[in-house]
Amino acid sequence: MESGIKFSSVIAGCMRLGEWGAKYDTDGYEKFIDGCLDLGVDNFDHADIYGGFSTEQEFGAVIKRRPDLKSKVKITTKCSIKFPCDNRPNYKSKFYDSTPEDIIKSVDNSLSYLNVDSIELLLLHRPDLLLDARAVADTFVELNKQGKVKYFGVSNYTTDQFDLLNSFYPLINNQLEVSLLHLDAFYNGTLNQCQKLDITPTAWSPLGGGTIFKDTQDEKALRIKEAAKDLMVTYNCNLSQLLLAWLAQHPTGIRPLLGTSKVSRVEEAVKAVNIKMTRADWYLMLEASRGHEIA
Ligand SMILES: NC(=O)c1ccc[n+]([C@@H]2O[C@H](COP(=O)([O-])OP(=O)(O)OC[C@H]3O[C@@H](n4cnc5c(N)ncnc54)[C@H](OP(=O)(O)O)[C@@H]3O)[C@@H](O)[C@H]2O)c1
Repeated sequence: MESGIKFSSVIAGCMRLGEWGAKYDTDGYEKFIDGCLDLGVDNFDHADIYGGFSTEQEFGAVIKRRPDLKSKVKITTKCSIKFPCDNRPNYKSKFYDSTPEDIIKSVDNSLSYLNVDSIELLLLHRPDLLLDARAVADTFVELNKQGKVKYFGVSNYTTDQFDLLNSFYPLINNQLEVSLLHLDAFYNGTLNQCQKLDITPTAWSPLGGGTIFKDTQDEKALRIKEAAKDLMVTYNCNLSQLLLAWLAQHPTGIRPLLGTSKVSRVEEAVKAVNIKMTRADWYLMLEASRGHEIA
């Protein structure tokens, strides 16, 4: 169920498009954006920090060149993490800041870097233990009234932290690390909370960050790969598609935030989330991840 926001079936994560990955130039970003849009993937997931505070600007250079894209892309971005780097030499150490002043400044920066008129979804990137929920909610109201941000959510929040802010302002998303490689959200109540509140969760690192495709000795990854062999034949798909299909079976309709920089893999992902797995196969993969039989 979704309240207001309509996510595409998969979301294009932008963390690895620039400095932290593919290092695309403007042409590279443009091809990636066009490729995603052609596949019906119009949600692009950013954060101010990606690429060391550089990826939003690089992505925005495409929108400056191609203003037609402004009305086609739907932008999620995040704020509140601070760390020292070339673009932020004044920070002395890592910290979180979700004060009204910082949220407003970050939103204004993101709008101008990305060259868009509004942000579809703004997320507080990590739980800030000094968060003043009432002040943040008032800031969200103001940003929404000004037309700068349509919807608000959080990322990496526990159920308690979500409840607190949600009691002051209706949040529509919790962006979580969840995959066959990282099961916490199934057991710590965060996915249950999403179901209870009719919130569509989004999954970061849905392929565990990609190490499973490498020559890894990680035992969990090896077990998953072994269990996947037969199921890839059953469902006529590859390993990444099986991992994404597994997530998509959850009743909340978890949307994967893809980390790929390749349009061909976005295309595979769009097909993957339509695969229907049997419950028996779903639990088989769960057991492979956990390394023991379910009770
Ligand atoms: N909220 C948060 O705290 C948070 C934290 C981290 C990330 N995120 C968001 O989540 C998005 C996804 O995270 P992620 O990048 O860790 O996701 P991921 O999809 O788990 O991992 C992506 C990595 O896997 C590789 N990969 C994908 N399919 C592959 C295949 N079939 N064979 C070999 N390699 C493959 C990709 O390389 P190729 O480019 O070569 O395909 C890329 O390096 C990010 O872009 C960001 O938007 C949010």
